[in-house]
Amino acid sequence: MKLTIIGSGYVGLTTGACFAEVGHHVMCVDNNEAKIQSLLEGKIPIYEPGLENIVRKNVASKRLQFTTSTEVGVNHGEVIFIAVPTPPQPDGSVDLSFIEKVAREIAVCLDSYRIVVDKSTVPVKTGERVAQTIRRYAKPGVEFDVISNPEFLREGSAVDDLMNPDRIVIGGNSDRALGIMQKVYEPFVAPVLVTDINSAELIKHAANSFLALKISYANALSEICEVTGADVEKVVEGIGMDKRIGRSFLNAGLGYGGSCFPKDIAAFIALSDQAGTPFNLLKEVEKINVRQLNRFVDSIREALWVLRDKKIAVWGLSFKPNTDDVRCSVAVSLVEALVKEGAQVTAYDPKGMEKFLELPISSKITLAATPLEAATDAEALVIATEWPEFSGVDLRELHQVMRAPLIFDGRNLLEPSEAIDAGFQYRGIGRGTVPVAP
Ligand code: UDX
Repeated sequence: MKLTIIGSGYVGLTTGACFAEVGHHVMCVDNNEAKIQSLLEGKIPIYEPGLENIVRKNVASKRLQFTTSTEVGVNHGEVIFIAVPTPPQPDGSVDLSFIEKVAREIAVCLDSYRIVVDKSTVPVKTGERVAQTIRRYAKPGVEFDVISNPEFLREGSAVDDLMNPDRIVIGGNSDRALGIMQKVYEPFVAPVLVTDINSAELIKHAANSFLALKISYANALSEICEVTGADVEKVVEGIGMDKRIGRSFLNAGLGYGGSCFPKDIAAFIALSDQAGTPFNLLKEVEKINVRQLNRFVDSIREALWVLRDKKIAVWGLSFKPNTDDVRCSVAVSLVEALVKEGAQVTAYDPKGMEKFLELPISSKITLAATPLEAATDAEALVIATEWPEFSGVDLRELHQVMRAPLIFDGRNLLEPSEAIDAGFQYRGIGRGTVPVAP
């Protein structure tokens, strides 16, 4: 099938590449000429395992093409996916101006029946607005349908999530469009849930909010574990063995970050407030998330007494492992908090340092080439992102290079007994029984 994706960012590019990989003929559109040029040269602007490979392969086979022209895109695809950014506004609600602009641009190019699919994460009822806008700007009588088809890709495993999805949600009100959408997804082996447009839009916000709720639940438990002497790792293992609860997304740590959860939870809160049905539970989820980082910084300050001029190593800058994305990264917020208190921070991240250098805070810290270099002469080591590389570091060697043997493990990456055996004072998250300081 001929498909078009408008917006070649994280979601658009990965979705387009995976559609091409299963045999569709895909045209990716983006108004950023430099980005399209570098994609045509096979350069991928993001680090995403497996993506470069399938982009190159499908560009070579001409199943994946790129253009800066919306008109070319609209002429190409019988199904047109909108995958443009939906950034947050200061009050938490979503800025839908990119979506609105693309809807207008598609409308003026429409000559014959097309399906316009909203892939971006949007508040419920956006599909209705997109349909109204296209109707208003399109030539009279031209036929189209609007569909909501939310994405559930996780950065770092986006290709795998797309190729092997848990489910495919298609929301629409037209049998003709729903039938064509089923064909788009025929090559994928996954249950398809067909709903109305509003329900599909709501599923995305509800799913991300529920996952964030699980994380905040584990983080709230971690605080209770710290004061009662229980170990949150054991507690979440115990509750996660109940199939009704499940173990995933119950990892206590520094809290959730990234380009999706903080934005989507704020948007869902704003939406429910505007609808006159405040979702107070989610407000608590947000509060716990903020509190988790603050508590952690407090614990570092408490152990070091004063942070000013302390040399602190930070391992991890990306918002989670296996990505170079540092947007809304809790690790970056942590670095900012340490710098604000006068600490001298040296950081290392396997993939995130290039993107980190684009942030203003980067001028206030030093970056190291290896984890051990970052830790050299440090008076404390903070693990902010659970990259597998960090758990492979020789703890005795680490002990030798540091000035003081203190580890603050914000992601419970290390085995406390191993750190203690190597001579460290260790503090994780919610590991109440682990000895902390002399
Ligand atoms: C998320 C959703 O998972 C995905 O379905 C959606 O389409 C986009 O948003 P992503 O932002 O890539 O994906 O990251 P995810 O793996 O969900 O992690 C989000 C944040 O939660 C990260 O900061 C991660 O460190 C944190 N997290 C995750 C925890 O703190 N504990 C956990 O148990 C799981």
